[in-house]
Amino acid sequence: MTARLVVLVSGSGTNLQALLDATADPAYGATVVAVGADRDGIEGLARAERAGIPTFVLKVKDFDSREAWDAALTDACAAYTPDLVVSAGFMKLVGASFLDRFAGRMLNTHPALSPSFPGMHGPADALEYGVKVTGCTLFVVDGGVDTGPIVAQSAVTVADDDTVESLHERIKVAERAMLVDAVGRMAREGFVVAGRRVRIG
Ligand code: GRF
Repeated sequence: MTARLVVLVSGSGTNLQALLDATADPAYGATVVAVGADRDGIEGLARAERAGIPTFVLKVKDFDSREAWDAALTDACAAYTPDLVVSAGFMKLVGASFLDRFAGRMLNTHPALSPSFPGMHGPADALEYGVKVTGCTLFVVDGGVDTGPIVAQSAVTVADDDTVESLHERIKVAERAMLVDAVGRMAREGFVVAGRRVRIG
């Protein structure tokens, strides 16, 4: 069985592209069935369109409330009956209705080694703190900010002359490899979330 992935993006979509490239091989075990975004005009959507994958865009400002946006996002994703929803650089927190529907089946990537540096500025916060090692984390989304059970992590060394941009670019190289490896194994082997522990296979 091939796992169905809905991928959510807000930006350049290089993580999405890594998944699109991986899923071109049927042996990978998963396929991207739709790509959703919270804004238009982004390269992430263009990547999906070039790959012939359906897209949807739901902007918070087009809804009366955050809850209404969340319900619409839930329905838009559910329409594609995903086995996994992958938030890949999606810059919005999803709400209760989304989490209820996709509990335990929504993954997010974060460009820091959780539980350090949660939030929107992981690479900048790591650089500012002066850590010598940072990295990226794939986790099962819960109601917190980058707090969910950890699926995979990959470490990246901080260089003395790193800028936020150079560090984030190097993290993203590790992040794409981590994402492709973990999602493929989850799709092929299944996974169990028990408390904070995630076991693949
Ligand atoms: C990734 O580092 C993700 O973790 C962060 O934003 C970046 C998105 O990159 N939240 P891309 O859009 O996949 O290129």
